[in-house]
Amino acid sequence: MGTRWTCPGPSLLVLFYYGHLLPWLRTEGDQSSDDFYNETMAKIFLQYYENTTRVVWNRFMEASWNYVTNINQQNLEEMLLKDMERSQHMLFFGTQARLFKIARFQDPVVKRMLSKLQNIDKAALPKDELREYNKLLAYMETMYSTAQVCMNEGPCLPLQRDIEEVMATSRDQKELLWAWQGWRDAVGPQVRMTFERYVQLSNKAAKLNGYEDMGALWQSTYKSDTLEQDLEHLYQELQPLYLNLHAYMRRALHRHYGPELIDLRGPIPAHLLGNMWAQSWVNILDLVLPFPKKPLDDITRNMKVQHWKPEKMFIEAENFYTSLGLLSTPPDFWRKSMMERLADGREVECHASAWDFYNGQDFRIKKCTEVTIEDLFSIFHQMGHIQYFLQYKNLSVIFRAGANPAFEEAVGLVITLSVFSHKHLLNKGLLSHQHQDSEEEVNFLMGIALDKIAFIPFAYLMDLSRWKVFDGTIQKDVYNQEWWRGPLACAPPIPRTEEDFDPAAKFHISASMPYLRYFLSLVLQFQFHEALCKATGHMGLLHRCDIYNSKMAGKLLEDVLKLGSSKPWPEVLEKITGETKVSAKAIMTYSKLLNWLVTENVQQWEILGWPDFSCYFEEKETDKVTFLSLELDPNQVNFGQWVLLALSFVMFLVALLLACRLHSLEKRSPAQDTSVQDISTLEIPPKAYFLGIAMEPRQAVKRWSCWASNNRKPLWMKAEWWSWD
Ligand SMILES: *[C@@H]1O[C@H](CO)[C@@H](O)[C@H](O)[C@H]1NC(C)=O
Ligand SMILES: *[C@@H]1O[C@H](CO)[C@@H](O)[C@H](O)[C@H]1NC(C)=O
Ligand SMILES: *[C@@H]1O[C@H](CO)[C@@H](O)[C@H](O)[C@H]1NC(C)=O
Ligand SMILES: *[C@@H]1O[C@H](CO)[C@@H](O)[C@H](O)[C@H]1NC(C)=O
Ligand SMILES: [Zn+2]
Repeated sequence: MGTRWTCPGPSLLVLFYYGHLLPWLRTEGDQSSDDFYNETMAKIFLQYYENTTRVVWNRFMEASWNYVTNINQQNLEEMLLKDMERSQHMLFFGTQARLFKIARFQDPVVKRMLSKLQNIDKAALPKDELREYNKLLAYMETMYSTAQVCMNEGPCLPLQRDIEEVMATSRDQKELLWAWQGWRDAVGPQVRMTFERYVQLSNKAAKLNGYEDMGALWQSTYKSDTLEQDLEHLYQELQPLYLNLHAYMRRALHRHYGPELIDLRGPIPAHLLGNMWAQSWVNILDLVLPFPKKPLDDITRNMKVQHWKPEKMFIEAENFYTSLGLLSTPPDFWRKSMMERLADGREVECHASAWDFYNGQDFRIKKCTEVTIEDLFSIFHQMGHIQYFLQYKNLSVIFRAGANPAFEEAVGLVITLSVFSHKHLLNKGLLSHQHQDSEEEVNFLMGIALDKIAFIPFAYLMDLSRWKVFDGTIQKDVYNQEWWRGPLACAPPIPRTEEDFDPAAKFHISASMPYLRYFLSLVLQFQFHEALCKATGHMGLLHRCDIYNSKMAGKLLEDVLKLGSSKPWPEVLEKITGETKVSAKAIMTYSKLLNWLVTENVQQWEILGWPDFSCYFEEKETDKVTFLSLELDPNQVNFGQWVLLALSFVMFLVALLLACRLHSLEKRSPAQDTSVQDISTLEIPPKAYFLGIAMEPRQAVKRWSCWASNNRKPLWMKAEWWSWD
C-alpha cells in the first residue's frame, strides 16, 4: 500500500490550493503570538478556513459518493485518500483554532465558529492510527452494504430489497426466521472482528478532543448538561403508549401464530414484527387491524396501478416543498442523484441518504427506490435533508448543519405527517374512500402507531447501550448479550451467543453513526407538526392536518432552516414552537389511539410488559456448523449478572432488563424442542417452497458457512484483504 497513503501535509495542502501563506502560518509554533489575541486576525483565519474547506470537503464528498455508488477497490482507496486530506485539513485548522484566546473576543459569531472548529473528531488521532481507523470504518460499512443471505445451493440475496421484503411480507415463521438469522449471520461475525479495535480508536480520538470517551463526544453535539435526564424523562412519558401497543400486538400475534410462538405474558419474538430490526411494525398492520372489516386502502397497490415511477415519487416530494414556498432543487440534483439501484452490475450501498457537496449547487440523494408507500415517505424524508442544505447553503461551512442533528431528521418527518393525512392522500388520488369514519380512523392511527410508537425503545436504547460500550460499562465479552438486554423490548427468536454480533446487523452501528437524533426527532416532528398546523390555521384533530400549500407554515419552517447551526438549538426551537424544550406533549395529543388501546387492553385483562420473563444467554462451546445442536444448560444462566446490572440501573430500565430476557426457565424447554426438531428436519427435508425454490427453509439457517465459502465476491471485499497494521 505504501505510497498511496502519503498525503500532503497541511501546509502543503494549503499552499496547493492558495499558493500563499498567511501570517499565522509563519507564527506556527509560536503559540504566544499576538495574533491569537487579535480578533481581526481570527476573522481572516476563519475566511481562510472557509475558502479551503469548500475545496477539501467537496473533494471528499465526491470521492465518497463515487465509492458508495460504485463499490470497488480503486474507489475505496481514492476515498480513503481524500478522507486523509480532509482530516489533515481539519487537524491543522482545529489546532490553530484552539490557540485563539476566544474569551477575549467580542463578536459572538466569531466565538461560536472558533469553538465549533475545536472539535476535530477523528482527525485528532496520530496519522498511523487515523489511517487504520478510516480503513476500519470503511470495512465495517462495506461489510454491511455488501452482505447477502444465501439460500441453500440457491442464489444469494441482498438486504434491500429482497431480505427486507421477506421480513415485510412473509407470514411464515420459518421463512422469517431464515431471513432474520441469515442477515445476522452474514454481517455480525464480519464486523465483530474489528469492533473492539473500533471502540478503542474511537475513544482515543475522543480523549484527544478532551472528552472522556466517544459516547461523551457524541452527546456533546447537543450541548446540554441535562441530556440524559431529559431523555429519560421523555422516555418515561412515552412508556404507557408503548406498553399498551405492545400488549395489544402480542394479543393479535397470539391469535395469528398461536401459543407456541407467542406467550401472552412475555416479550414478542423479534422476527414476527415485519421488520428486520423490529423497529417499525407497520408491515404487519394487516394482522392486527383493530377493525378488520374496514381495511385501509393499499396505497402501494394504488401507486403501482397508477404506474408510479421512482422519479415521479421524487417530483411529488419536490412539489410538496415548493407548495410551501420553500426552495426547489437545482437541475444537477435530478441529473446526479441515484434514484434507483443501478442495473449495470455495480455494487452499491443502498441505505438511503442525502448529500451536500459544499459548493452551493450540488446536492444529491442516493436511494434504491421501489414503488411503495414506504419509499415514498422515505423520499419525502430525504428531501427534508436536501431542503435544509438548500436553506443554509449561504452560511459559513461551519454552520452548515442542523440546529442539532434531530432537527435535520425532523424536517422531512414533519412533512410526511401531512402527506400521510387522509386529506392529502385523497387529493393525490391514492385513496378511494372519500371519508374516514371513526373505525377507519382508529385503523389509520394504528398504522401510525406501528411506525412511530413501536420505534420508541429502539431509538432510545440504541445509543444508550453504545454509550455504555464506549465508557466501558459493557465489555467486549458481553457485547451481544448486553445488546439484547438493551435496545429491543422484544426477544431474539433463537438463542444467541457471543459468537454472534447482532448489533452490527443495523446500519448505523456498522457505519458508526449516532442514533440519538432519531429518538429526539421522533418526538420533535410532532412538536413541529403542531406548530406548523397552528400557523396554517388548522382546527381540530392534529392527525387530520395537512400543511400542503400553506405559505405560512412554509415561512415558519424556512426561518428556522435558514439558521443552520448558527444559533443554540433551544433558541431555534423556540422560534418555531414557542418552547425551549423537546416535549412529548404533541405526540401524546396526536396519539388519540391511547384511549382506545387502554380500553381494549383492560377488557382483555392484558398484562403490560413481561413481568415474569427472564433472559438467558447461551454460552456456546460448539462451532458454527453444529449450531443447531445446542445443549441448553441451566447452570450457565447467570442470574447474578442481571441482578448486578439491575442495581446499577434506574427502575424503569429494570423493567426492560426483565423484558429482554429471552425465555424464562419454564419457557426454555419449548425452545430446546425446536432445536432438536430442526436437526431432524435437516436430515429429511420435507418438500417446501421458499421464494419459489424447492427447499426446506430452516435448512438455510446454516448459511453462514455459505457466506464464508461463497466466492462471488472479489478478494478485497473479504476480511483477509483488509490487513489492520
Ligand atoms: C490585529 O491585526 C490586524 C491585521 O494584521 C492589525 O491591523 C491590527 O492592528 C491588529 N490589532 C491589534 C490590536 O493588534
Ligand atoms: C476567500 O474567498 C473570497 C471570495 O473568493 C475572497 O474575497 C477572500 O479574500 C478569500 N479569503 C482568504 C483569506 O483567502
Ligand atoms: C466504477 O469505478 C471504476 C474504477 O474507478 C471506473 O473505472 C468505472 O468507470 C466506474 N463505473 C461507473 C459506471 O462509473
Ligand atoms: C444565497 O445568496 C444568493 C446570492 O446572494 C441569493 O440569491 C440566494 O437567495 C441566497 N439563498 C438563500 C437560501 O438564502
Ligand atoms: Zn434522515
